[in-house]
Amino acid sequence: MAVQSLLSFTHRFEPATDATRPPVLLLHGTGGDENDLVDLGRFVAPGSALLSPRGKVLENGMPRFFRRLAEGVFDEEDLRHRTHQLADFINEAREAYELAPPVALGFSNGANIAAALLLLRSDVLAGAVLFRAMSPFAEPPQTDLSAKPVFLSSGALDPLIPAADASLLAASLSERGAQVRHQVVPTGHNLSQPDVDMAKAWLADL
Ligand code: MLT
Repeated sequence: MAVQSLLSFTHRFEPATDATRPPVLLLHGTGGDENDLVDLGRFVAPGSALLSPRGKVLENGMPRFFRRLAEGVFDEEDLRHRTHQLADFINEAREAYELAPPVALGFSNGANIAAALLLLRSDVLAGAVLFRAMSPFAEPPQTDLSAKPVFLSSGALDPLIPAADASLLAASLSERGAQVRHQVVPTGHNLSQPDVDMAKAWLADL
């Protein structure tokens, strides 16, 4: 799977080996890149096409999907702008690779922009797996997420994302009609095996 730079985001793309499985959009955390989540994607979504863009914002040289003013304090204007850019890329990639709407699978910063995609441009996603996400907007916009499936997995001991923030996100998405499953695992910010196993089982049921 070669790194592609022809579309508007540098990305990797791996075609599906099972056409019945939904494509998966992989969104890395701060300091990651388009390679980071590919093995995880293959494991949790066997057979799915994988689309993995690299965030365009650099924070001290570390790629991210949008700017932040401090840890956990987002530059919401930039977040809105970057969310629309990413949504436009998803549409470009769907056309180029002939893909159905993907299920996003994001970790940390990638999960936060996936949550922003759901709130601003839900039409581009079939659903989302959000690992260590928080509510991306102080006042989340009203939108119709009827029946959109979302798996949210947060760490009870996560020092970066207070449990209340993850619960707020789960509540905002549910209030807008999404079918949210929120798991809290007894760990910190990093992913654990239970996160991965639960996400795999959840995706298999889609
Ligand atoms: C963010 O900036 O999206 C969150 O603070 C998570 C992180 O990337 O550290």
